Amino acid sequence: MKKTDKKILEEIIRVDHAGERGAMKIYEGQLLALKTFKQDEDLKRKIEEMKEQEAEHLEFFDKEIQKRNINPTKLLPLWDLLGVTLGFGTAMLGKKAAMLCTASVEEVIDEHYKNQTYKLKEDEKTLKEKIFKFREDELHHKDIAYSQGATKEGLYGFLDKVIKTSSKIAITISEKI
Ligand SMILES: [Fe+2]
Ligand SMILES: [Fe+2]
Repeated sequence: MKKTDKKILEEIIRVDHAGERGAMKIYEGQLLALKTFKQDEDLKRKIEEMKEQEAEHLEFFDKEIQKRNINPTKLLPLWDLLGVTLGFGTAMLGKKAAMLCTASVEEVIDEHYKNQTYKLKEDEKTLKEKIFKFREDELHHKDIAYSQGATKEGLYGFLDKVIKTSSKIAITISEKI
């Protein structure tokens, strides 16, 4: 049976744990804005729905981190802060920006999870299946975001690039430390 490289496996779990936590934090930030300055019941419900799935994803990786004795990224406090800020900021800009934030992040995660499934060998079948399942959920979130008004027109295209670049940097760092 082909075995997954131990170091790669640790990186996968560390970064996914950080990413799912980041997703939770982004939605927390958005909900904070939606409960205070930008009342929008409909959008709030949609975000709460997606956040519930992120909680499920995070719970899975939380358990993996503990079970396998892997160090979480040292930068969790920083990602928490940036996640809430990104969520709050995009929701304050309006519905289009809030939904673009989800679309941009999920487009990065789609590729990210897909790449990981190639690195996981037969000995990590369960983990691989979970990542496939989570990727499906993320693609669904992306569809919700576009159906709710996410757009890359004009300045939103710039915001899309900023979010994508930041997410990729966070991914690279969280794999390593
Ligand atoms: Fe997720
Ligand atoms: Fe998601």
